[in-house]
Amino acid sequence: MIQVNLKKVVDDTYSIDIGKGNSPKLPSLLKKLVPAFRYIIITDSNVAKLYGKTFLFHFEKEKLNASLVSFRAGEENKTRETKAELENKILQHSAGKDSVIIALGGGVVGDVAGFVASTLFRGIPFVQVPTTLLAQVDSSNGGKTAVDHPLGKNLIGAYHQPKHICIDTDFLKTLSQEEYVNGIAEIIKQALIQDEKFFLFLEKEMEKLVNRDEKILKTTIEWNCKLKASIIEKDEREIGPRKILNFGHTIGHAIETLSQYKLRHGYAVSVGMVAESLIAKELGWLKENDVQRIENILKRVKLPTRLPKSISPITILKKMQLDKKSKEGKIKYSLIDKVGHCEFNVGVENEIALRCMRGIME
Ligand SMILES: NC(=O)c1ccc[n+]([C@@H]2O[C@H](COP(=O)([O-])OP(=O)(O)OC[C@H]3O[C@@H](n4cnc5c(N)ncnc54)[C@H](O)[C@@H]3O)[C@@H](O)[C@H]2O)c1
Repeated sequence: MIQVNLKKVVDDTYSIDIGKGNSPKLPSLLKKLVPAFRYIIITDSNVAKLYGKTFLFHFEKEKLNASLVSFRAGEENKTRETKAELENKILQHSAGKDSVIIALGGGVVGDVAGFVASTLFRGIPFVQVPTTLLAQVDSSNGGKTAVDHPLGKNLIGAYHQPKHICIDTDFLKTLSQEEYVNGIAEIIKQALIQDEKFFLFLEKEMEKLVNRDEKILKTTIEWNCKLKASIIEKDEREIGPRKILNFGHTIGHAIETLSQYKLRHGYAVSVGMVAESLIAKELGWLKENDVQRIENILKRVKLPTRLPKSISPITILKKMQLDKKSKEGKIKYSLIDKVGHCEFNVGVENEIALRCMRGIME
């Protein structure tokens, strides 16, 4: 018998730099932090139009070897085909193992580019430059990369941590209010599951955040990233505590899929958070007043709190039973038991879930 000893100590530590006007300084930082022979910038068609040239110019100014490859924007292009198309283009640029991938864009770009980086030459480093609020507070942080499959979202992917995350709030200037609000839903979730003080801050400053007040925005992104990082440090692979990030997502994810992605992720999660808060109330965990606070803050941001008429509670339940996170058809929820604290792996009677969803139909 041959034993191959492969015990590993891995250091996947990474840094997050948050601020206005950060991205022009990125190339000079990369020289020290993530040196490479070539930087391959992956982006989507919208972001390429808005920022492609300027972003490349920052690399040229530092005399760094950089090229940009893009794919058509949209969740429908977060596929294996897009990944293959990008790999072909990158290899044609004669990139080698000494290349570094830069993901410049929203969550779709981050997920695809990260997955490309995780398999190209059996894995090369990558850097996240998130340009939507959702990507800045959520998807760029934590190393989950993936593409979708016709049978479901994010079914094929890998854990691959970025070497650095460069968050530049200047990118948000061109983001539509709908996309901006999409990110606020995840911020509200982060506060609800982990930090009552953060939730109180959001209750106080929400109008300023919605109006993109620079100081409040920076504090919010920083607070949110720190909270999420503290969970990832405990449980990178979602074996335990990382599951709390799924609050509002068990029902929300089913709604998002059933709407055929017409309802954006944050909007579906918003309805999911209300429904799951009602479940927590039925379990005797939350008080009526807590549920009211949650609904109120979502309404102030103009996020939905009611289930669309077109989607019935029973179809949502069936969808949840098929979800990859369900075990033998048993749905496990992540539910808050007070503002600022969340429990995971909670089993709930289907009747209770149905009753709560029926209670918030449009
Ligand atoms: N990896 C994770 O941990 C994680 C977590 C949450 C979500 N996600 C994934 O993230 C994706 C959603 O991300 P998203 O909401 O950023 O969507 P997205 O990447 O599709 O971006 C939304 C739209 O905004 C455009 N855009 C991006 N930056 C812009 C800017 N600065 N100005 C103007 N337009 C801009 C994009 O081209 C796109 O049309 C989903 O695929 C989801 O599965 C991943």
